Amino acid sequence: MSDELKAYRGRLLHCPGAVSSADDCEYLDDGILLVRGGHIEAVLGADQRSELSADIEFLDYQRNWIVPGFIDCHVHYPQLDMIGAYGEQLLDWLETYTYPAEMRFADPDFAANAAEFFLDQLLRHGTTTALVFATVHAHSADALFNAAARRQMRLITGKTLMNRNCPPQLCDTADTGVAESRELIRRWHGRDRLLYAITPRFAPTSTAGQLEMAGELAAEFPDVYIHTHLAETRRECAWVAELFPDRRSYLDVYDHFRLVRDRAVFAHALYVDDRDRDRLAAARAAVAFCPSSNLFLGSGLFDLAATSAAGVRTGLGTDVGGGTSLGLMQTVDDAYKVSQLRGHGMTPWEAFYLATLGGARALHLDDRIGNFATGKEADFIVLDTAATPLAARRSAAAADHWEELFAAMILADDRMVRQTFVNGRPMSGQ
Ligand code: GUN
Ligand code: ZN
Repeated sequence: MSDELKAYRGRLLHCPGAVSSADDCEYLDDGILLVRGGHIEAVLGADQRSELSADIEFLDYQRNWIVPGFIDCHVHYPQLDMIGAYGEQLLDWLETYTYPAEMRFADPDFAANAAEFFLDQLLRHGTTTALVFATVHAHSADALFNAAARRQMRLITGKTLMNRNCPPQLCDTADTGVAESRELIRRWHGRDRLLYAITPRFAPTSTAGQLEMAGELAAEFPDVYIHTHLAETRRECAWVAELFPDRRSYLDVYDHFRLVRDRAVFAHALYVDDRDRDRLAAARAAVAFCPSSNLFLGSGLFDLAATSAAGVRTGLGTDVGGGTSLGLMQTVDDAYKVSQLRGHGMTPWEAFYLATLGGARALHLDDRIGNFATGKEADFIVLDTAATPLAARRSAAAADHWEELFAAMILADDRMVRQTFVNGRPMSGQ
């Protein structure tokens, strides 16, 4: 990695910390982002350009925006071949479309090819970090880690644990699931920018024995992630209550097996109560709000206001293939509509925070990514809010930068992502 200083000029926006008003975000209408050796060096006003040595690499993005790379807190890389699958809700959708798609990952070459394609697509949509479901096959996690390492991405994944209520070809056992996970942790966790997540699919597809062993593994590796689904549909919740009759709630099933703690990320959490939310907050666990998936699968409307009020760390997840876009801006578009239906709306700065620093905080990575603080890893994107004729017209009519950015997120189009930088390097293929 070259340690040369590089400068990028444009409209800079990021969240230095938590956001409760527009003023909590830092916006420079004409700013310079200084990057050295994969890390953020400083944010300057363009009027400070004369302080920079004349011979440094300087790229002028003019009226384009330079913002932190987006963070997807829940997505499935094996589900790109069945995204937008028609006609079913969660449990039937899994049987009809999802499990057959995941069976194809038994072939390591297929998995390797899918991993490359998936990461190129993430980058194209402006996502630089993701927490990702692989399949039950250990080599599916290897494939994604390898592809992410080649791109120097900060990425979290793990092999799925599932040993009942699924097709036999996709079943592991309590013993093999944990043994393979342990090997993968040793191989990948903390290597380059990669991190491991112990990944039980959801409570119905693991026996109590498997969840128990997953909890023991988590205790053995306290800084490893836990990634699963929680309370996404009413039918699923009724099934979990039948399978685990002694537990107070769905969350309590995971809690009983010591899977609720910091670095645990629960996708959805639609059908939870205040006690569950308080428990999630106290445990420093996180929730991935996946509005596109929740709408597409008809699962329900997430209560962002109650979750935020309880102090639960919350990020956005695309949940592709339940979700219908890999883009975080498209996900903001759906999140806003869900919040409207819930009756509380969502501010532009809240939306931007969720897609950047909020996601980093949900993943306990806010000391490394999510904004332009000095020393952070240099994952950032260049956005062109005039990339399409309609977006150009709408941008030109905006009264201020928040109106422009918000409308751009609602018009959400990956053509707006002009360039993605990972670890200070421009990614190709865009
Ligand atoms: N619950 C269990 N598995 C899945 C999955 O693959 N997608 C979604 N959206 N929910 C799940
Ligand atoms: Zn999911």
